[in-house]
Amino acid sequence: MPNVTFSSPQMKKDLTVYAVAGDTKTLLSVAQANKVPVAYECQNGECGSCQVQVQVLSNNRPIGVAMTEKEKTVLRLAGKITAEQIKAAETNDLPSPWRLACQCVLRDEDVLVTF
Ligand code: FES
Repeated sequence: MPNVTFSSPQMKKDLTVYAVAGDTKTLLSVAQANKVPVAYECQNGECGSCQVQVQVLSNNRPIGVAMTEKEKTVLRLAGKITAEQIKAAETNDLPSPWRLACQCVLRDEDVLVTF
C-alpha cells in the first residue's frame, strides 16, 4: 500500500494517506476522498486543471507509466513537459514528473504530490 503525501500552499500542513495500489482509483479520487483541494473540472484528462507534480519517494527505480496521448498533449500545451521529455520518459520507461491527477493511477510506491 503506497503512502501518498499531498503538499500545497492551499493546505495548512502536508497530509499523508494510504492508498490501495493497483486499483482503478486515480490520484484525484484519492485526493477527493481525503478532502485534499486538488483543482479539477472535466475529470476526463482534457481541461488540465488538475496538474500536479508527482515525486517518487524511494531509492528504487520509479515504476514506468504510459501516459495517454490526451494527457501528454494537455501537459505539453500547458508547458509542464516538453516533447523531448515525453520521448525520453517513454524511451527510459520513467514517469513524467507532472501528471494529470484525474488520469494518474497509483502504483505500489510512495509519492509526494505537490500542487
Ligand atoms: S480534471 Fe480536467 S484534466 Fe483532470
